Amino acid sequence: MQRIPISDVLKMVPSGQQITLMGWVRTFRSNRFIALNDGSSLHNLQLVVDFEKFDENLLKRVTVGAAISVKGNLVESLGSGQAQEVHCEQLEILGDCDPGEYPLQPKKHSLEFLRSIAHLRFRTNTFGAIFRIRHQIAFAIHEFFHQNGFFYIHSPIITGSDAEGAGEMFRVTSLNLENPPRTEDAQIDYGKDFFGKSTHLTVSGQLEAELAALALSKVYTFGPTFRAENSNTPRHLAEFWMIEPEVAFADLKSNMDLAEALLKFVIQKVLDHCPDDLKFLNDREVDEEKTKPQNERSEMSLIDRLKFCIENNFERISYTEAIEILRNSNPNKKGKFQYPIDKWGADLQSEHERFLVEKHFKKPVILSDYPKDIKAFYMRQNDDGKTVAAMDILFPGIGEIVGGSQREERLSLLEKRMSEMHIPLEEMGWYLDTRKYGSCPHAGFGLGFERLVLFVTGMNNIRDVIPFPRFPGNAEY
Ligand code: 4AD
Ligand code: MG
Repeated sequence: MQRIPISDVLKMVPSGQQITLMGWVRTFRSNRFIALNDGSSLHNLQLVVDFEKFDENLLKRVTVGAAISVKGNLVESLGSGQAQEVHCEQLEILGDCDPGEYPLQPKKHSLEFLRSIAHLRFRTNTFGAIFRIRHQIAFAIHEFFHQNGFFYIHSPIITGSDAEGAGEMFRVTSLNLENPPRTEDAQIDYGKDFFGKSTHLTVSGQLEAELAALALSKVYTFGPTFRAENSNTPRHLAEFWMIEPEVAFADLKSNMDLAEALLKFVIQKVLDHCPDDLKFLNDREVDEEKTKPQNERSEMSLIDRLKFCIENNFERISYTEAIEILRNSNPNKKGKFQYPIDKWGADLQSEHERFLVEKHFKKPVILSDYPKDIKAFYMRQNDDGKTVAAMDILFPGIGEIVGGSQREERLSLLEKRMSEMHIPLEEMGWYLDTRKYGSCPHAGFGLGFERLVLFVTGMNNIRDVIPFPRFPGNAEY
């Protein structure tokens, strides 16, 4: 089958040349004008049919959602709204679509409704734009790392290690759960399971990325991660994709610089390569904002927010400074925070993160040097004995988008911290080996892919930026 994608046709100079197109009918007006979309671009192409040339019964099958193939001539359009159109010579129905049953009509559907028909929502302008941009972001991430000398490492999805502590894990088993083998003390005997041990879906590829970084210097993972937390929020998924670079001979400052450069590079690529899709989402948001009360409207439009993010340095402050700002903030004094900030050591909730980013600094913020008690065992201990060399990046409208740290490379300090946090040292021999054999300062971070897509598309719910979202109570498709 030979066809030209509509995205290519739109770049052609119309001169009556014959082309073949295939796509789905978006509208069919006046028995004459078909708006065809093939997903290669936001734009439809106008097809003009001369009803006298075609069988009436054939034209009746040109319904919204039907898949068709046409051969015709590309000419300049006299009508307003498009530069070119195709005068049809041949028309074939590839797949009928019963208009009485088809759930997508040429009108605005709510995002909630579209979520309930996620198998069809790709066909709407909004989701077409989102998933073309999602692709562009993924591609730009690989491009950034490749250009900067990083190697793409595939960390395992099924893991035999559950020490990361990043979240609750999903078990992977092939045991018969109705009647599992038991040990002498009546526990389930995972020694008889598929892998001869207990296994789970990974919550992060970091520990494995560290092993690779301590040989290849600069690596990154980009894969699915799984968390069995009961977080029913517009920012959490049970299955999400994470980008985790890990760099040898790097400290916390280089880690921040890398994360900021990556985010800016990716956003610039989307501005450069997806102008139409971004403009569509931008205008969609502007319309949406008009329905909100004045004081709840966002101050900048989507495209302005993206540009602002690229053009300004991210604010860098320590956890300790952030606590001071929050403690003295109006919402804290007036008791407006659900979790009031009274003393140093408190974990920051998303209401605090969003206050810092959206109200106080009004720009992305990198928070560093958190109390060690609220962070993971592998983070490098600072000389003050209280904090670790951690960093989180907070984005407007999103909250935490990146979490990372310099890693503890000193064997004795790492072992001590693991014991304090009840992490079984004997099971982590492979991780500790890197600290025994040529250990070196190193750092890395995790960037939540869907949170980044949320920011770039301006959508409000993370379930709308992944094709098939997994969350508590839902694993459709
Ligand atoms: O902060 P997290 O838990 O960090 C780690 O997993 C480290 N091992 C990363 C590293 O240092 N290599 O997760 C990293 C990021 C968060 O900042 C957030 O953007 C995203 O992953 N994230 C989620 N995104 C969607 N749904 C969830 N349930 C998420 N949990 C974390
Ligand atoms: Mg985190």
